[in-house]
Amino acid sequence: MKMDGKTVLVTGSTDGVGRYVAAKLASAGAKVLIHGRDRARAKTLTDEIRGQGHGEPIFYQADLSSLAGARQLAEAVLAEHKRLDVFISNAGIGSRTQGSERRTSADGHELRFAVNYLSGFLLAHLLLALLRASAPSRIVNVASLGQHPLDFDDVMLTKGYSGTRAYAQSKLAQIMFTIDLARELEGSGVTVNALHPATYMNTTMVREGGITPISTVEQGGDAILHLAAGDDVAANSGLFFNGMQPSQANPQAYDETARKRLRALSLELTGLPA
Ligand SMILES: NC(=O)c1ccc[n+]([C@@H]2O[C@H](COP(=O)([O-])OP(=O)(O)OC[C@H]3O[C@@H](n4cnc5c(N)ncnc54)[C@H](OP(=O)(O)O)[C@@H]3O)[C@@H](O)[C@H]2O)c1
Repeated sequence: MKMDGKTVLVTGSTDGVGRYVAAKLASAGAKVLIHGRDRARAKTLTDEIRGQGHGEPIFYQADLSSLAGARQLAEAVLAEHKRLDVFISNAGIGSRTQGSERRTSADGHELRFAVNYLSGFLLAHLLLALLRASAPSRIVNVASLGQHPLDFDDVMLTKGYSGTRAYAQSKLAQIMFTIDLARELEGSGVTVNALHPATYMNTTMVREGGITPISTVEQGGDAILHLAAGDDVAANSGLFFNGMQPSQANPQAYDETARKRLRALSLELTGLPA
């Protein structure tokens, strides 16, 4: 896909792999909508992009630990842009971000589930009409190889909490949503895929977790760019990629009943119409 004249939203692009992806897309000619919470970090990136003569990126500040934050971001994008060619749902927190204990979002949902999955679910739905109107267009959900099946009796993990499990169930939820949404979007010209970008990239999330990085941001970023703009994946939808290759996710992703339950729960929690 030629990025010249395309509009791309990258959530969580003030840092880490999202920052790399946003800068690359801007250098390829895209109008990049940068998102994060931190205005100072965003300014460094927008200055860098402008300084290199790569267009006029626009920063949107929104905290995705509240559904109101996700709604506010979608409303701003819808109000200011006539098209959206690619939506990269990348913002996330790790298994040990600000400690590995259980915390809740502004809406009372388990925090990793809320930030990593539920806000992206809501954003994708709110942006869907614009993505459909801009077809051919793409959604890329940045998930992970770290996946844990959801226990539908305790999705908010009120018992026996572990940050690792919470992170992994939020990442599997993103993949389940990807498969489900791809079915809904069949024939629309909007594709949706998920991926594990790379293992333990050198990012804030990994360093904060006390983990020694084993991949570069460039490796993971190039895998995201492949799904966002690669011609060879233009017709692919509903797939999970490990880096550049189509791969298998946790078996729960292919369980239609589980996906239906997750969809019903997500619609209920976000207040979207069924
Ligand atoms: N690093 C890895 O090895 C790895 C492996 C597999 C998958 N992933 C996935 O890749 C994605 C990016 O991770 P990363 O490693 O690049 O992490 P990172 O360097 O920690 O960056 C995370 C980004 O998400 C944003 N963010 C975090 N919490 C937010 C919130 N409540 N509201 C709005 N924005 C928020 C941050 O914005 P602020 O500037 O506001 O903090 C930042 O821009 C994540 O979805 C992660 O699960 C990473």
